[in-house]
Amino acid sequence: RTDEQQIHKGLDGVVADHTAISKVNPETNSLLYRGYPVQQLAAELPFEDVAQLLWTGELPTDAERAAFRERERAHRALDPRVRQAIDLLPLDAHPMDVARTGISVLGANHRLAEDSSPEAELTKAQELFAAFPAVVAYDQRRRRGQEAVEPREDLDYAQNFLWMTFGEEAAPEVVDAFRVSMVLYAEHSFNASTFTARVVTSTQADLHSALTSAVGALKGPLHGGANEAVMETFQEIGVDPAETREQAAVRAKAWMERALEEKRKVMGFGHRVYKNGDSRVPTMKQALDAMIVHYDRHELEGLYDGLEAAMQEAKGILPNLDYPAGPTYHLMGFDTAMFTPLFVASRITGWTAHVMEQRADNALIRPLSAYSGPDERSL
Ligand code: SDX
Repeated sequence: RTDEQQIHKGLDGVVADHTAISKVNPETNSLLYRGYPVQQLAAELPFEDVAQLLWTGELPTDAERAAFRERERAHRALDPRVRQAIDLLPLDAHPMDVARTGISVLGANHRLAEDSSPEAELTKAQELFAAFPAVVAYDQRRRRGQEAVEPREDLDYAQNFLWMTFGEEAAPEVVDAFRVSMVLYAEHSFNASTFTARVVTSTQADLHSALTSAVGALKGPLHGGANEAVMETFQEIGVDPAETREQAAVRAKAWMERALEEKRKVMGFGHRVYKNGDSRVPTMKQALDAMIVHYDRHELEGLYDGLEAAMQEAKGILPNLDYPAGPTYHLMGFDTAMFTPLFVASRITGWTAHVMEQRADNALIRPLSAYSGPDERSL
C-alpha cells in the first residue's frame, strides 16, 4: 500500500483552491461573505442584497438593486413545465428529489442553457434564485392536497416565499427569522455540495448540471440533510407542547446520554472545520428564540437546551447551523422533509457564485488515488 501519509481521507485539511467569496475562520469562529461578517449581513440586509453581494463581490447600488428586484419578481411564477414534471413524481418522493428535478427542468428549458459566458451565468443564477421558491412552495402544498399559490409582486423574497407556501401573509417576526436563515445558509466556502458544483463546473459542464449535482450532495444527513434529521431527533424524543421547558430538558438530556452510550451520531452537532462552535449558530439561535416566543412553544427550548448541554458535557461537541434551523422551520409550519430544500433555496446563491468563480479560472479537478487492490495477475 502507498504510504498512508500521502492520503488525505475525506480531503480533510486539504486546501484545494483560492476563493474570494467567503472566508471561514475556525480560530475566531467567524464567517465573512466578500469581507462582511455574516452576522452584520443577517442583521441588516434583505436576502436579495446578500445574493448580489455573493455574485458580484459588492453590495448593489440603488440602480442595481432596482434592476435585480424587477428581474427577481418577474421570474417567480411556477414554470408550467416544472409543475408538470413535479406532478409525475410520487407524493412520497423526497422533496430533495423534487428540488433536483425542478432545477434540472429549468436548466434543460433555459434559453441560455449552453451559454457559459459570465453574463449568461449571472442571468441563469438570478433567474434560478427567483424561480426556485415556487418549486419548494408547490411541493409543500401538493403534499397537503392544496393548490399552488401565485407569487405576489408587492412582497420581497422572504415574504413571498412564505406567501406562496402557506397562502397567507406571514407575521413580520416570522419573515425576519426566515430571512436570517436564508442569509446564514447562503455560503460556506468549500463544503461538500459547493465543492461538488465546482468539480462539475471544472469539466466545463453547464451551470444547472453543477447545481443538480450539488443538490445531490446536500441531501445527505452528514451535510444539509442534518436540518431534517435534527427535527426527527426532536420527534423521536417526543414533542409535546403541553410540557414545560424543564420537563422537556430532562427528557432530552436522558435521550442524549443514551444515544451517546449507543455510539449514535447525533445530527446537528459537530463540524469538519469549526471545532469551537459554528459562527452562524448564535444568530440562528436568536431567530429560533424569537419563533419560540412568537408561537409560545417553550418546550422546544427545553429539548434544544437539554440536548446541547448533554452533548457539551459528554463530548464537548457543539451545534452546527442545522441545529437551530431545523426547529425554526418546524415552528414556521414546514414539513420536516422540506427543510433541506429551504437550504437549497439559500445555497443556490453560494453555489452559483462558485460556479462563476471556478469558470473564470478553471483547472479540471481530478485528484489521484492510491491503489490498494491485488497486485497484477494473469487470467
Ligand atoms: C453542514 O462543511 C460545511 O461547511 C458544511 C455546512 C455548510 O454550511 O455547508 O456547514 C453545513 O453540513 C453542517 C454539518 C451537518 N451534519 C451533521 O450535523 C451530522 C452530524 N455531524 C457529524 O457526523 C460530523 O460532526 C460531521 C460530518 C459534520 C463532521 O465530521 P468529521 O469532521 O469527519 O468528524 P468525525 O465524524 O470524524 O468526528 C470526529 C469525532 C468522532 O469521534 P471519535 O471517533 O474520534 O471518538 O467526533 C465525534 C465522532 O464520532 N462526533 C460526533 C458527532 N460529530 C462528531 N459524535 C456524535 N455526534 C456527532 N454529531
